[in-house]
Amino acid sequence: MQEFADRRQRIMETMRAAGGGVAIVCTGAEVIRNRDSEYPYRSDSYFRYLSPFPEPQAAIVLVADSDRGESILFCRPKNEERETWDGFRYGPPAAAERFGFDRGAPIESLDEEMAKLLANRAALWCAIGTSETLDASARRWLAAVRAQARAGVTAPTRIADLNHVLDEMRLVKDAHEIRAMRRAAQISSAAHLRAMRTARPGRREYEIEAELLYEFRRNGADAPAYGSIVAAGRNACVLHYRANDAVMNDGELLLIDAGCEFDAYASDITRTFPIGGRFSAAQRTLYDIVLDAQRAAIETIRPGARFIDAHDAAVRVLVQGMIDCGLVEGPLDAALESGSYRRFYMHRTGHWLGLDVHDCGSYREPSAADADASAASRILRPGMVTTVEPGIYVRAADDVPSAFHDIGIRIEDDALVTDDGCEILTIDTPRRAEDIEAAMNG
Ligand code: GLY
Ligand code: MN
Ligand code: MN
Repeated sequence: MQEFADRRQRIMETMRAAGGGVAIVCTGAEVIRNRDSEYPYRSDSYFRYLSPFPEPQAAIVLVADSDRGESILFCRPKNEERETWDGFRYGPPAAAERFGFDRGAPIESLDEEMAKLLANRAALWCAIGTSETLDASARRWLAAVRAQARAGVTAPTRIADLNHVLDEMRLVKDAHEIRAMRRAAQISSAAHLRAMRTARPGRREYEIEAELLYEFRRNGADAPAYGSIVAAGRNACVLHYRANDAVMNDGELLLIDAGCEFDAYASDITRTFPIGGRFSAAQRTLYDIVLDAQRAAIETIRPGARFIDAHDAAVRVLVQGMIDCGLVEGPLDAALESGSYRRFYMHRTGHWLGLDVHDCGSYREPSAADADASAASRILRPGMVTTVEPGIYVRAADDVPSAFHDIGIRIEDDALVTDDGCEILTIDTPRRAEDIEAAMNG
């Protein structure tokens, strides 16, 4: 639990250095799915970064001045009747004690307390402009402080973007976060291996989705970190395929993009393998291009390199491969320049990964004034985690060699930047074509 107190302390230090004030981070709201049922509840990721307190209707407030620092957890009071229906609630005093806050307070008192805490403070730190509810609350709190002007109270003159501070912190993972991400990656790797061993012609995509979920949950993962994509044959060319209900046929590939969330941290893996257990020659040709592209991308990942380097390296290999097999016209530099390859590779090669699957954090150096996006690309540092996910997607069309029609391939792994390179957190999932075939065939 100390790591959360340390993170809150770091925020208070940043606030102090910028003149102090009061910061607030609210957790997520419960969302109705239909009538009386709600979507499974998950804390807001910024809140979760500062405390694992699991209940909805809660807020963390940090007061940071030169002479004062206080952390307060606002949450629901105990309620015997509601606890009988919905389960245990800590209540403010027990929650503050258990989760290491200076004090707890009932969430109903938030407006009243904020009006008091903000009196004579320099700034309100919050995620202003991200939610109408929060914006309206901020207006109410500030109005309540300003209403005390004739009593000699001054209101904050600044609203500071707290998420900018948190984004920078969350971008570089600490040891506790890395431990959770390793475990998430291991469980997801086991799930992909299970999928390879259970997929066969005649089964439906959702049966394999169920195998993934089984492996996630039996290992203690919270949930899938995002909607699992289980896409057979041409469905793999739909980047965010959701239906997962088609029959899987012999001769087709199965693309699975799925990862669990463990202790609130995401993993994100894609594997593509032959439903019948053996790649065809055309499938293998494209598969090896994507694998080579991924290797080239991973080679670039080390401290001091730019985030964009992995994408640039992957694209060069992908496009040369597309030229070699007649999908795209050469030479390489002309194809890169014209962007003709984008018909078959239309997404980026990676994104930050952490509490969110598409995690927060700027992809540009914060200090970069340069308007050229690639020149300003983020410089990698130890503790950053990015996915590496090149692919090739070939929809059937008259001007495309028919052997490649309806083949969609993506290979995605999660890379932690280390002191001298990177560690592939998802290394346990077979990746080379021959290793996949061996895993599938016993
Ligand atoms: N699964 C989402 C992504 O790969 O970005
Ligand atoms: Mn991804
Ligand atoms: Mn993915």
